[in-house]
Amino acid sequence: MTEQDFILLPYPNTLESGKITWESPSNIALVKYWGKKKDQIPENPSISFTLSNCKTITTLSFSKKENITNFEFDVYLDGEKKDDFKPKIQTFFERIEIYLPFLRNYKFKIETKNTFPHSSGIASSASGMSALALCLMSVEKQLIEKVVPSSAPDCYRDETSSSNEYFNQKASFLARLGSGSACRSIEGDLIVWGKTNSIEGSSNLFGVKYPYKIHDVFKAYQDTILLVDKGKKQVSSTVGHNLMHNHTYAKNRFQQAHDNLEKLKTILESGDLDGFIALIESEALTLHAMMMASMPYFILMKPNTLEIINKIWKFRQETGLHISFTLDAGANVHVLYPKNETSEILEFIKNELVAQCQNGHYIYDQIGFGARLIKN
Ligand code: PMV
Repeated sequence: MTEQDFILLPYPNTLESGKITWESPSNIALVKYWGKKKDQIPENPSISFTLSNCKTITTLSFSKKENITNFEFDVYLDGEKKDDFKPKIQTFFERIEIYLPFLRNYKFKIETKNTFPHSSGIASSASGMSALALCLMSVEKQLIEKVVPSSAPDCYRDETSSSNEYFNQKASFLARLGSGSACRSIEGDLIVWGKTNSIEGSSNLFGVKYPYKIHDVFKAYQDTILLVDKGKKQVSSTVGHNLMHNHTYAKNRFQQAHDNLEKLKTILESGDLDGFIALIESEALTLHAMMMASMPYFILMKPNTLEIINKIWKFRQETGLHISFTLDAGANVHVLYPKNETSEILEFIKNELVAQCQNGHYIYDQIGFGARLIKN
């Protein structure tokens, strides 16, 4: 697949108006994406668990307009108009217009809400951008349905799984142009993004389902997200990614991500929990080490992040349970563990770790299976 495969012209159908709702989850990377090239192409491959409970629900209403000089849209979060969200969506529309040439022909109303609290320090960009990309894909689907243009790939000619595959790939491709990691939120349960030799079918352009055998223990993995700091990050991901250009350790780090994906294959197949823990914790700390070694340098972890990590290590040593952590680009801690150890580990989280959370807040989540069309 190349970028050209996502351009379908012309659309045979016309649509006056419509309304579509999708819900799309967040995801948490095990091997981290940090550093990107032009057009949201990742410097290294990544793999993530799709989450189940942390999601964005977006309704896109559209009506035809005559004046096609500008994009026209309004954005609402929890029913409240959000003009400060507009620049990001304007940039997104500019980037994807070549792939969705109908964008200037409609006035859009984007109504969105998250299942996780606003300002929880959980980035809504992955779930938000993927939900919007899916809504736009549903519009395109209606514009081409029934009569399929000769330029369309074969997979658009039937309603079987292969057409779903094209739909999902293009949705992921578009979501990536909104926010890199959003391309891993369309499907579940494990998604790879970024070309790497060890994963067949992997692409820099979109996320793909992890294609190899996964041991049962990884099929219902749990993620309890400890909300350590709900404030806005001092350094955005965009700035952080850019600081990987000319970074002293960049080359080795990018190679390490390829190597870790290769190692993870054996771990995921065999159910090697100790190997899994060592690999994902190292990935989380390497991500933050890259931030600390950037110029300018920065730290997104907070004292309570470290407190939690130390308590997790101590508890794991004392009990032999398979509790582990990973981190996003922020202070919050994702506590990961197998389902069959839930009761002891949740007990520990409630008794020992919740005190380190801002206002005692945490979110109980687990591995999920991707986005869902709610209404078309
Ligand atoms: O998608 P972005 O540009 O917000 O970058 C996210 C990067 C990390 O969350 C830190 C890692 C990842 O792979 O999700």
